[in-house]
Amino acid sequence: MYKCNSCSYETLKWTGQCPSCKEWNTMLEKIEEVETKKPGSKNNIKWETQILTKLGKASFEENRIITESKELNNLLGNWIIEWSVILLSGEPGIGKSTLSLQLANWIKDKNITYVSGEETIEQLSVRAKRLWITGDNISVLAENNFENILQTLKNINSDIIILDSISVIVSNNMTWASGSINQIRYITEELIGFAKKTNTTVFIIWHVTKDWSISWPKTLEHMVDTVLFFEWDRFDNIRLLRSLKNRFWNTNEIAIFKMTDKWLSDLSDPSLEFVTNDKDDTIGSSLSMTVEGSRAFLVETESLITYTKFGYPKRNCKWINNSRLDMIIASLAKYTKVNLDSYDVYINIVRWLKIEEPWIDLAIAASIISSKTNKAIPKDSVFIWEISLTGRITNVVNIEKRVKEAQKYNFAKIYIPANSDVKTSKNIVKLKNLEDLVKVIV
Ligand SMILES: Nc1ncnc2c1ncn2[C@@H]1O[C@H](COP(=O)(O)OP(=O)(O)OP(=O)(O)O)[C@@H](O)[C@H]1O
Ligand SMILES: [Mg+2]
Repeated sequence: MYKCNSCSYETLKWTGQCPSCKEWNTMLEKIEEVETKKPGSKNNIKWETQILTKLGKASFEENRIITESKELNNLLGNWIIEWSVILLSGEPGIGKSTLSLQLANWIKDKNITYVSGEETIEQLSVRAKRLWITGDNISVLAENNFENILQTLKNINSDIIILDSISVIVSNNMTWASGSINQIRYITEELIGFAKKTNTTVFIIWHVTKDWSISWPKTLEHMVDTVLFFEWDRFDNIRLLRSLKNRFWNTNEIAIFKMTDKWLSDLSDPSLEFVTNDKDDTIGSSLSMTVEGSRAFLVETESLITYTKFGYPKRNCKWINNSRLDMIIASLAKYTKVNLDSYDVYINIVRWLKIEEPWIDLAIAASIISSKTNKAIPKDSVFIWEISLTGRITNVVNIEKRVKEAQKYNFAKIYIPANSDVKTSKNIVKLKNLEDLVKVIV
């Protein structure tokens, strides 16, 4: 292997410049000896298998940990399995330590050890006071040497361990710098072994950067049972916790929290959080109903369409996929008279919610038509559809859930696809294609 002696980046191929820190001539060869275990030599292998259905009655219900946070319980399928290893990742400053300490406080009937490699006991004490931590079942350890941590954990009897954060923990058995992938992999492997052997739940906190998808070592994702990822917008107090992987539950749910002056609190009814409070009809604004896991909630799209003064028209939207925006613009040009060839298009989803499902396509199209034609869409309308490449409005997954949630807010018009099974009524209007949409707005 070649390892950068400036930033510890590792690669199998020699390079003159380190691909990570861009320093020159820092890649040094390193020979790593791997100890291979001969089958049966050290481990007392019995060379037999067991019948799956005769393994006993252990069930998730018997071994689960429930927290006082409905959002967290919901995200994890109402149980945190004992002996599971959960990775909690997010950008610096997002609130990982806050959530971890609160999580400890939300579990009252277990012994919890919070290991902080980053903060001193005094800092932890200040944070605990601020967060009104009351549980006497929480012990803290400020340490960043992995062997010392492991020895302490073996001495005490803890049900849950929170390691904040793995990025700063170093093991004597590794020569690599803290935070390097080899260190992290080794420590994680040891912790997984410890968790399974001692029936302990382990939360591992890990810093990732905004481009985490690039820097994320996939091997780590494979090793742990659950991967949670904290999302935020630096200027907003909403925090979303997504489950990217879970060996014991589906990964559709999100947990929504609000960072208040004091702490993170559950936001169990998010429907009115992702729309502006403005009651007036506004040009370029339209509402849709999105579904995240078991919940449906309103989202607001804002469009600004202006004549292109110079060069190519701009297409600007952070929160939905650019190719989807191109598809919506192309469909409008082909199937209606709304042509945006010489217009800049700026799209915003209120409160930065990243929407991956396509069912808000038509709300986006509606807000574009509204801005282009200067016709405001009445605030009491909601659009629930996806556009197909043929300009038709296709059926929507979970349409009943979306319509039911929309009915709660007494919308005067709920626009849904013509081929939906939901019955038409006074406030439910079915639309066939994009031309129908234009007629509704203009
Ligand atoms: N004294 C305070 N009063 C109110 N809010 C605070 C206070 N201190 C911190 N916060 C909030 O907590 C957030 C930081 O929380 P926390 O330290 O838990 O983040 P983190 O993800 O653990 O950060 P790091 O990556 O540095 O470990 C801040 O963004 C801020 O919103
Ligand atoms: Mg922290």
